[in-house]
Amino acid sequence: MEIGTIGAGDFAQAFAKRVLKAGHKVKISNSRGPDSLREIVNELGRGATAATSEEAVACEMVLLAVPWDNVPETLARLPKWKNQILIDGVNPFHGKAGNFTPANVGNLSTSQFVAALAPGARVVKAFNHMLVPNLEADPVVNGARRVAFLSGDDADAKKQVHSLLQNCGYSVIELGNLRDGGLIQQAGGPIAARDFIERGEYHK
Ligand SMILES: NC(=O)c1ccc[n+]([C@@H]2O[C@H](COP(=O)([O-])OP(=O)(O)OC[C@H]3O[C@@H](n4cnc5c(N)ncnc54)[C@H](OP(=O)(O)O)[C@@H]3O)[C@@H](O)[C@H]2O)c1
Repeated sequence: MEIGTIGAGDFAQAFAKRVLKAGHKVKISNSRGPDSLREIVNELGRGATAATSEEAVACEMVLLAVPWDNVPETLARLPKWKNQILIDGVNPFHGKAGNFTPANVGNLSTSQFVAALAPGARVVKAFNHMLVPNLEADPVVNGARRVAFLSGDDADAKKQVHSLLQNCGYSVIELGNLRDGGLIQQAGGPIAARDFIERGEYHK
C-alpha cells in the first residue's frame, strides 16, 4: 500500500520507518515542498518519496502529523477528500514539546475536530498514543508484541487500519468510536504516551 503523510517531523518519520519496514511505500510531505525533504527520504530509504501535500493526500491512506496549531490551516489547503482514510496522529495542545498548553476543543475528541475539518475523509485515530522512540522500536519485545490502539466511526476504514497495524507487527486493540476511543488515545487520555506489551499466548 502507498501511504501519504501530511507533516514530515519526528512523528511522521517514525511512522514512515515503521510502515516501510512492513513493506509499504510512503509519500512524505510538509509545507515547504519536496525539495526540502530530500535528506529525509534518503535516510528513510527505499520506498520513501518526497511529495507535495496533494500527492500525499491522493494515497488511499494518509497520516496527519502536524502541530495542533497548524491543523485547521493545513486541512483547509488540501484538495477535497474522496473517501481516503485519514489517520489522525495529532494531539490537542499548543506549542512544542516541553512547553505545551492544552487546547480547548469543547467536548469533542481531537479526531472529531479533525473529521469536521476534513469532510469526505474517513478518520481513524491510530499510532498516536505512542511516543516516537516506542514507534521506532521493534514491535516485538522479548517475544511479546507491543500493543497499538485504534478507534473510528467507519467500520471498513477501521478494518484497514487494523490490518496495517497487524502487518506492522502490533497486537491491536480497538477502542470504539472517534469520540470515546479518541479521548482515550489522545494527549491527556489514560493511555497516551504509555507503552503496552502483550504477553501470553491467548491472542496469537
Ligand atoms: N513526537 C511524538 O512523540 C508524537 C507522538 C504522537 C503524536 N504526535 C503528534 O504528531 C504531530 C506532529 O508532531 P511532531 O513531533 O512530528 O512535530 P514536528 O517534529 O514539529 O513536525 C511537524 C511537521 O509538520 C509539518 N507541517 C507544519 N505545518 C504544515 C502544513 N501546513 N502542511 C504540511 N506540513 C506541515 C512540519 O513541516 P514544515 O514546517 O516544514 O512544513 C513538520 O514536518 C503533533 O500533533 C503531535 O502531537 C507526536
